[in-house]
Amino acid sequence: MRAVIATEPGGPEVLQIADVEAPVAGPGELLLRTVAAGVNRADILQRQGHYPPPRGTSEIIGLEVSGHIEAVGEGVQGWKAGDPAVALLAGGGYAELVALPAGQVIRPPEGVDLVTAAGLIEVAATVVSNMDHVHLAPGETLLTHGGAGGIGSFAIQYAKGLGCRVATTAGSAEKLDLCRELGADIALDYHDDWVAQLKEATGGRGVDVILDVMGAKYLDANVRSLARRGRLVVIGMQGGIKGELNLNVLLSKNATVTATSLRFRPVEEKAAIVARVAETVWPLLASGAIRVVRETRFPVEDVRAAHEHLTSGANAGKIILTF
Ligand SMILES: NC(=O)c1ccc[n+]([C@@H]2O[C@H](COP(=O)([O-])OP(=O)(O)OC[C@H]3O[C@@H](n4cnc5c(N)ncnc54)[C@H](OP(=O)(O)O)[C@@H]3O)[C@@H](O)[C@H]2O)c1
Repeated sequence: MRAVIATEPGGPEVLQIADVEAPVAGPGELLLRTVAAGVNRADILQRQGHYPPPRGTSEIIGLEVSGHIEAVGEGVQGWKAGDPAVALLAGGGYAELVALPAGQVIRPPEGVDLVTAAGLIEVAATVVSNMDHVHLAPGETLLTHGGAGGIGSFAIQYAKGLGCRVATTAGSAEKLDLCRELGADIALDYHDDWVAQLKEATGGRGVDVILDVMGAKYLDANVRSLARRGRLVVIGMQGGIKGELNLNVLLSKNATVTATSLRFRPVEEKAAIVARVAETVWPLLASGAIRVVRETRFPVEDVRAAHEHLTSGANAGKIILTF
């Protein structure tokens, strides 16, 4: 089969299409023929050699795909060859064929094009599992950084659907407009003093939950922006991995700092999250309560351009590779 391989760690130029051995569906697995694959920040880190896949996982980059069932492994019920499907992967997505545990595969959301569906499962699973993890509740205020990005654009809409007030940050006027269109009540340029602006916009109270993609760079600012009993969940480290935590501020607020990774969760946890996505998020997409913001498609042959586009800062929404 054809797949994108990285010849060595490095820039987009190390990516190339090659013929590699096709996977097979083992017991409890499904084999998918890929129609499209989502491109994620983690893919860039893996290409650069900073984010190796979990042990036993394909070395091929790619955390989410859509496609059709090619083969059904021993013991798997409810699927047959040709069924459309979307899958959450620990790796292996930039390839014509992908084998994975059946629990990580679900039907695509109703009324959503199968190519578009490839870019939904990773963000949906990340946002829902993290908002469950920190018990985001109706009436609370959420701050999600990077509201025009893949995670942020989804988180704004999901939290608004829950009945929350939503604050977000973005890096340009155009992206801030997009955040407001998606429902953000407070949209702040992260080049400005967003901490002071957020404090003012919340009447000095701060926010109940922060979904953070910046890590070290924002650790202190995030903790200072929490309300009493606030919860900060870190899912990205775009601003570094080691920060300084002011425990005095944390304890005076009875606040919580936590961090999660979807990719490194065991198969059973991923299956439970994916089932929750099918049950709670797919109906919101089908009804239009959550909409696909923007997407940019590249044929898989242009995978280098797709990676360049993601890191250029010009992208909003998701990037999809088509097969
Ligand atoms: N832990 C997990 O399980 C998990 C799962 C999925 C994703 N992630 C992580 O989540 C992060 C976001 O993923 P994504 O798919 O949404 O990527 P993306 O679409 O590329 O978005 C990145 C976002 O970061 C924002 N950003 C950059 N610099 C910022 C700053 N100084 N302050 C605030 N925001 C800033 C960008 O805002 P502008 O575009 O406005 O500049 C953009 O919205 C990545 O680090 C990814 O690895 C983690």
